[in-house]
Amino acid sequence: MACKYSQHHGGNYDKGTFERGGDVPRGRFQETGRFGRMMPYLRSLTEFKPGPNALGAVGGVMDGGAAADPSQDNPRIKAGYTFLGQFIDHDLTLDATSTLEQQIDPQATRNFRTPALELDSVYGLGPKVQPYLYDQARPGKMLLGATDHDLPRNSQGVALIGDPRNDENVIIAQLHLLFLKFHNKIFDVATDPSMGWESRYEKAQSLARWHYQWLVVNEFLTRTVGRKLTERAIAQLPFRYPDYSYPFMPVEFSVAAYRFGHSQVRPGYRLSEAPFGDPAARVAALFPNNPEAPNPPENVGDLRGGRPIHNDLRIEWAAFFGTSAQPGKLVDIRLATPLLRLPDSVVGPGMPEERRSLVIRNLQRGIDARLPSGQSVAAHLRVSRRLTEEQIWKDVPGGEGPAPLWFYCLREAETLANGLLLAGAGARIVAHTFAAILEADKASYIVQMPDWTPTLGANGQFSFSDLINFTLGTELVSEDVDSLLGPASS
Ligand code: HEM
Repeated sequence: MACKYSQHHGGNYDKGTFERGGDVPRGRFQETGRFGRMMPYLRSLTEFKPGPNALGAVGGVMDGGAAADPSQDNPRIKAGYTFLGQFIDHDLTLDATSTLEQQIDPQATRNFRTPALELDSVYGLGPKVQPYLYDQARPGKMLLGATDHDLPRNSQGVALIGDPRNDENVIIAQLHLLFLKFHNKIFDVATDPSMGWESRYEKAQSLARWHYQWLVVNEFLTRTVGRKLTERAIAQLPFRYPDYSYPFMPVEFSVAAYRFGHSQVRPGYRLSEAPFGDPAARVAALFPNNPEAPNPPENVGDLRGGRPIHNDLRIEWAAFFGTSAQPGKLVDIRLATPLLRLPDSVVGPGMPEERRSLVIRNLQRGIDARLPSGQSVAAHLRVSRRLTEEQIWKDVPGGEGPAPLWFYCLREAETLANGLLLAGAGARIVAHTFAAILEADKASYIVQMPDWTPTLGANGQFSFSDLINFTLGTELVSEDVDSLLGPASS
């Protein structure tokens, strides 16, 4: 049976009949952006050896396996940050206009999200324009779901949220729910009840945005590219792309470097705090089509989204953030097999087998967007530790010459940082894009009040564990990013 949900999420790129997330609302306080090139003068890579199909097939070079492999654990970045990264992506970028076959004109393609960290995926167009996202009985608050662990849904199970991609899997759905609750909690405890609901809503929204921006910079980015580079990127503001007359989303980021997160995804997840092996542990596969023997045993089904969330799939956040959380997967050239066989709920029914591979999709998208090669970007950015031909194409039969930028960024992380974090050109693209995005957003704390420090955590700090604790009253302990393993990125 055709899945209605897939029309929002799958995007039938082949027939052009619908686009993944193409119906999401535009941002509230500034024009949606466009895609553009950070480095427009570099030559595009139009083909490479051995080509997308050879790299991205199941069983091929970039297949990371269908079962959890402890040697793939990343001690620096816990599993929750993968989905926080996906959530941030959905706040920043959505290319809903291209087909996989058509060439994209990166200067003209519209980014259906605002390139700003302003939670438009949560707030949509605001309570006046999209009242169904808001609680009509409690003006100024976000609508919550029927159960404590599910999103609000209509009678057909479709999530009532600002970006349908945030119901793509059960983990990001519950992360989205956490942000809805975060807003409501701020509304209750950090706004003045004597003010009208509209003023309280705006106050809660701006506090939520600034705390979110803070933790994106000080925690997410710091973990992902290293503290040194994060601080350098922010200190170098104002940052200018070559042609920066309007805020835009660089395709080097959205089509290549920031897709590093696909390699962090595990083939399955532990949802409860109870450790693997404990009878109380609830373990779920990422997607159901996993014919190889699962390891460890998956006992509560799979994490496909687009449906009401069963009680067994509720998340205990300690399993994803804090000291007892499971690790994410290393950042390397391998993706978990379920991502090479995306189900109908992600790509839509009737999709040919080879187009179900996220590797093939990402590589093809890079060609369509006319991205430059990884080598030329690293040279242009004057990255000190550039990969040799041997390092880039190690164990890739037939691999030679200019490499796709996404593949190159993954290889940099693997070769230069042991897979713990991004390095080299990939790290620079990600750090500078975040810094430029914050600077272009005239409402961001970095522009409005650069010395601002969070008010909702302790001692002017605010981690994602603090956000969970503030919202849900838990007591997760945040790990000190600097004490974690891994070299500072160059
Ligand atoms: C279960 C986890 C995930 C799944 C199933 C998933 C799936 C997808 C799919 C199917 C696309 C569209 C591919 C195309 O045809 O171009 C996509 C795009 C993208 N993904 Fe993911 N993804 C996941 C996690 C992540 C994470 C963790 C990150 C980053 C930290 C990320 C970053 C991106 C970016 C930047 C895009 C391009 C968005 C746009 O401009 O439209 N994804 N993802």
